Amino acid sequence: MVIHAETWRRGLFLLAFACTIFFVVRALTSSKKQTSRKLVDPAAWGEDHVGGSVPDYVTGGECLFCHRKDIGAQWAKNRHHLTIRSVVEEPKATQAVAASLKGTAQFVLGGKKNIRFLRRSGAYGKLDLHSQQYDPVMHKLSEKTESSWESHSFGKNCAGCHTTGVDAKTHTFSSLSIDCFSCHGDVDLKHNSNSSLVLFAAKREDSARVTVSICAQCHVRTGKSRSSGLPYANNFIPGDNLFRDFEVSFADKSLVSLNLVDRHILENVRDVIRLGNDSVTCMTCHKVHQSSSDRHQRLSKESAICANCHDSKSGEWTTKTFKKHSDLCRY
Ligand code: HEC
Ligand code: HEC
Ligand code: HEC
Ligand code: HEC
Ligand code: HEC
Ligand code: HEC
Repeated sequence: MVIHAETWRRGLFLLAFACTIFFVVRALTSSKKQTSRKLVDPAAWGEDHVGGSVPDYVTGGECLFCHRKDIGAQWAKNRHHLTIRSVVEEPKATQAVAASLKGTAQFVLGGKKNIRFLRRSGAYGKLDLHSQQYDPVMHKLSEKTESSWESHSFGKNCAGCHTTGVDAKTHTFSSLSIDCFSCHGDVDLKHNSNSSLVLFAAKREDSARVTVSICAQCHVRTGKSRSSGLPYANNFIPGDNLFRDFEVSFADKSLVSLNLVDRHILENVRDVIRLGNDSVTCMTCHKVHQSSSDRHQRLSKESAICANCHDSKSGEWTTKTFKKHSDLCRY
């Protein structure tokens, strides 16, 4: 059988064509793989305790039995511990609602910008939230709010981040304010001879995503639990991967819509959880027990996160003024 030159040429041409297609397609798909490799799937690591029951954790009182000296004094002043406190701690605010609440408020919630009033409801682990808001800067109640107690609002909308050990089904909490459990987890008491058994011990080397999950459970105020639909995590236990159940948008437009404080938080969480960059976490800049962010001043001014709060135009380093507010916390 004789093969014509023409057929040869056509064959070679087809072969070259097929090879080109093969390489083009391979180049395209592998470049696609590379871009998707840059983004990490937030849900793809670790465990969770979604839907389970709140563990019988060791309470702060018990921890302080041994840690009174190193932690006690600072803890008494820590904002986490004080987020809900007795009304007697805020005499001016209490005075302002004296006429309308007639002594029914037992607790206050909040800090320097906004204060709310709470009372125990009939049920265990529940609080009623009063509709009125007190402005501690102007020393006055917000206008145009009628005075009433809401009975289901606090459990569904607030409890997960302002109390400890919240059951996502019943919306009940086990301790007021934020206890050691919220950050250190279900602590094994055997850590007294081996401190690496407890989260945040100096000897531990937890990954950035474990650390950031712990702080983000409360400090990301734009997320939602997929399982419960609530704006706070479902039975998160420190050590878990928050993002298996907690849905958060890291899109640029979600970031720019936030005030500078919430934005630097979401940006740091995104860098760790979504971009897989684990060199900077909250603890690079913050010390929780000392309530200090002093160490941030020693970092490189080149880092993108600085631009949230600082400008550096023509070599001059200035700090922006920022105002915190949150739809979720209603201030
Ligand atoms: C996802 C967690 C989360 C939920 C849910 C949540 N908060 Fe907050 N809230 C926070 C965090 C975190 C802060 C501290 C933010 C900061 O200072 O940067 C805060 C701060 C506050 C403050 C203090 C403002 C100030 O600085 O004086 C008040 C008041 C408040 N929240 C009320 C509420 C109320 C009322 C609800 C329910 C309607 C609620 N929060 C739900 C996380 C949450
Ligand atoms: C809001 C999160 C949070 C809460 C709540 C919390 N801790 Fe910590 N703790 C940390 C972090 C983070 C560290 C690591 C050092 C730092 O950043 O201050 C730490 C460190 C420690 C240390 C090591 C010593 C030190 O100062 O570095 C001890 C002991 C400790 N915590 C005990 C407690 C006890 C007891 C409670 C409850 C009364 C508690 N913590 C509540 C976050 C928390
Ligand atoms: C029976 C006493 C005791 C109790 C109760 C206790 N601790 Fe400790 N804890 C210790 C001792 C002792 C150490 C130091 C162990 C070491 O250095 O090896 C320690 C170490 C730690 C550390 C690491 C400190 C560091 O410098 O790295 C943390 C964090 C911590 N405890 C948190 C807690 C928390 C949170 C609770 C409550 C849930 C708690 N502890 C309850 C005795 C106790
Ligand atoms: C269980 C919820 C919760 C967790 C977990 C939590 N925070 Fe907070 N944090 C709050 C709330 C609520 C406030 C504001 C309290 C107030 O002023 O009423 C706050 C206040 C703060 C503040 C401002 C007050 C201060 O002490 O300087 C910083 C900074 C902070 N948190 C950092 C962290 C870091 C870092 C972590 C992780 C180690 C963390 N938080 C974990 C709820 C939480
Ligand atoms: C690059 C450093 C840096 C990183 C990373 C960082 N922060 Fe901050 N953060 C700051 C500084 C600086 C402030 C302003 C301090 C001040 O107001 O005294 C601040 C403010 C805050 C505040 C408000 C404090 C207040 O007193 O009102 C909270 C809450 C907070 N950060 C939480 C976090 C959490 C949670 C993370 C991790 C997801 C984080 N930050 C990561 C530097 C950082
Ligand atoms: C969340 C806001 C926030 C972020 C993010 C932040 N800073 Fe700051 N920074 C502040 C505030 C507020 C002050 C004023 C003093 C204080 O409270 O620490 C300050 C003060 C400083 C100072 C000393 C005072 C001055 O103006 O010279 C330096 C230096 C500094 N920051 C560097 C940095 C660097 C570097 C980064 C990035 C790695 C950064 N900051 C990120 C809020 C922030």
